[in-house]
Amino acid sequence: MSTSKRVLIVGGSGRTGKLVVDELLARDHEVTALVRKPDSLEARPHLSTVTGTPMSKDDVRKAFAVSKPDVVVVTLSAPRAGDSPFAAVVSPPRLMANANANVVAVMKEFGTPKIVIMQAFGVAESWPNMHWALRMLMKKSNMIYQYDDHNLVASEVRASGVDYVFPRPSRLVEGEAKEIKEWADDGKGVPLMSTCTRGSVAQFMAEAVENRTWDNTAPVITN
Ligand SMILES: NC(=O)c1ccc[n+]([C@@H]2O[C@H](COP(=O)([O-])OP(=O)(O)OC[C@H]3O[C@@H](n4cnc5c(N)ncnc54)[C@H](OP(=O)(O)O)[C@@H]3O)[C@@H](O)[C@H]2O)c1
Repeated sequence: MSTSKRVLIVGGSGRTGKLVVDELLARDHEVTALVRKPDSLEARPHLSTVTGTPMSKDDVRKAFAVSKPDVVVVTLSAPRAGDSPFAAVVSPPRLMANANANVVAVMKEFGTPKIVIMQAFGVAESWPNMHWALRMLMKKSNMIYQYDDHNLVASEVRASGVDYVFPRPSRLVEGEAKEIKEWADDGKGVPLMSTCTRGSVAQFMAEAVENRTWDNTAPVITN
């Protein structure tokens, strides 16, 4: 059992974020969640919620002041009007980039060394190794805006000098944690039809909080 850590989660009200909160609590960590809607997470021991948005640096500071985190976890998404790849974009172009820039700036103020950010297979160096059919789908649909935002996060957080882990799951499916296959940052060899359960992502992110094994890497993960 690893030592209990203080963890701030940004995006903890989301579909994967909620599972990450569950996983961290099950592993005896102290969790603070910065959420826009205070009732979006069920109250439990060792979970504090702070109402606010990562788009405001002051709100992020407020969350750090409740409990200075050892590690920050980010499971944000830049939503479209629906889950279809062609659904209209409803987020500003730098939603995730600006939110992570605020978080990293406040990490530096408070001396928090590490951030674990959920990304996606196909971001940054893993793009060339995504199957051409998937790259075509991304480029021709509104999913490319989410990829552009993730790419900005990757380059800006890397340049900031904080320790990072960018877990990059293949296509998400609902489900509990299953055996996880790890691939290199460039995702070479990941099969076209790979999927990853949200439960597996939550487990991997909790392990990345506890261990330094993946620090300063961006592993592609699949089941
Ligand atoms: N879909 C796939 O197959 C796939 C595959 C691999 C990776 N991914 C990546 O997985 C990540 C998480 O996806 P998910 O489906 O778990 O996310 P989700 O359920 O859509 O949750 C999104 C989270 O972001 C927050 N958020 C959205 N807009 C916001 C804003 N303007 N200000 C503040 N917070 C905001 C939401 O807060 P509220 O609850 O307040 O709205 C929520 O906590 C995404 O980055 C995505 O790119 C997806």
